[in-house]
Amino acid sequence: MSLREHLAGQRKRVDAELDRLLPSETVPPEMLHRAMRYSIFAGGKRIRPILCLEAARAVSDTAEGVMTAACSLELIHTYSLIHDDLPALDNDDYRRGKPTCHKKFGEAMAILTGDALLTLAFEVLAGVDSARADSRVRLIAELAGAAGTVGGMIAGQVFDLEGEHREPDPLLLESIHRAKTGAMLRASLRLGAICAGADEDQFAALSCYGEHVGLAFQIVDDILDVEESSEGLGKTAGKDAQQHKVTFPAVYGLEASRRMAERERQEAQDALAPFGERAAVLRELAGLIVQRKT
Ligand code: IPE
Ligand code: IPE
Ligand code: MG
Ligand code: MG
Ligand code: MG
Repeated sequence: MSLREHLAGQRKRVDAELDRLLPSETVPPEMLHRAMRYSIFAGGKRIRPILCLEAARAVSDTAEGVMTAACSLELIHTYSLIHDDLPALDNDDYRRGKPTCHKKFGEAMAILTGDALLTLAFEVLAGVDSARADSRVRLIAELAGAAGTVGGMIAGQVFDLEGEHREPDPLLLESIHRAKTGAMLRASLRLGAICAGADEDQFAALSCYGEHVGLAFQIVDDILDVEESSEGLGKTAGKDAQQHKVTFPAVYGLEASRRMAERERQEAQDALAPFGERAAVLRELAGLIVQRKT
């Protein structure tokens, strides 16, 4: 099976589990459940859940609750996108090839949809099937930290907004990217590692891979914003320069940014050495993350 076929299969399994976890559109409040499903099934790449599943596979053939953990990452990620697009933040009308949640359902409903996905993420983790109680607590703590305000996603979003009014500089740039995107990417690997019962060394190696791949992922997101079209990306291109965002191309230029993404890819792949063939997919994923066009 090719990597593409394998990833398409993983995406399908993730979507089936998300469908099971999300309340039906016929359950009140119907509008909210419709909005949650609209944004979740608008067509994301499912990178975070797939990284979680593959991290588990690098460690063991059995990983209790890993599909639920994978979905909890996508729930948080989609909430972060809905709020990122709000008029008060990046003010975007277009996401995953469709009108943004607030364009379709109104701003109040979009705020609540984000809140609902965030809450559901922790509800599903708390009830994660057959995982031992101590690993369940670790999963919850890990996800909360990655989404949170000390080096986590929310912190990164605040730095990102504050950065619009500051001179772009390398230190600020790295702190924004590590927090707003890197923390959730690293957590994706860690959740998989926890479900699979990774030992300390395995956990550290997967965390290291996650940090490098996380930085590479956001460098490429910044590059694509400059180079690709809105149609290709399924989200508005060219917004970062317009909004004076602190990005890799703004600080280093496109060429150097590309080289930096490549270096992160290499370091991510190097971190996988202890896993040998078991990490073959993770190794290829690091390449895909850097070469992607969407
Ligand atoms: C976009 O994430 C936002 C960032 C953190 C860079 P993705 O590129 O993973 O978006 P989807 O999930 O595929 O829509
Ligand atoms: C958003 O970063 C990261 C999140 C935490 C959602 P961006 O603002 O660069 O993401 P896009 O480009 O809108 O997807
Ligand atoms: Mg943003
Ligand atoms: Mg944005
Ligand atoms: Mg971006």
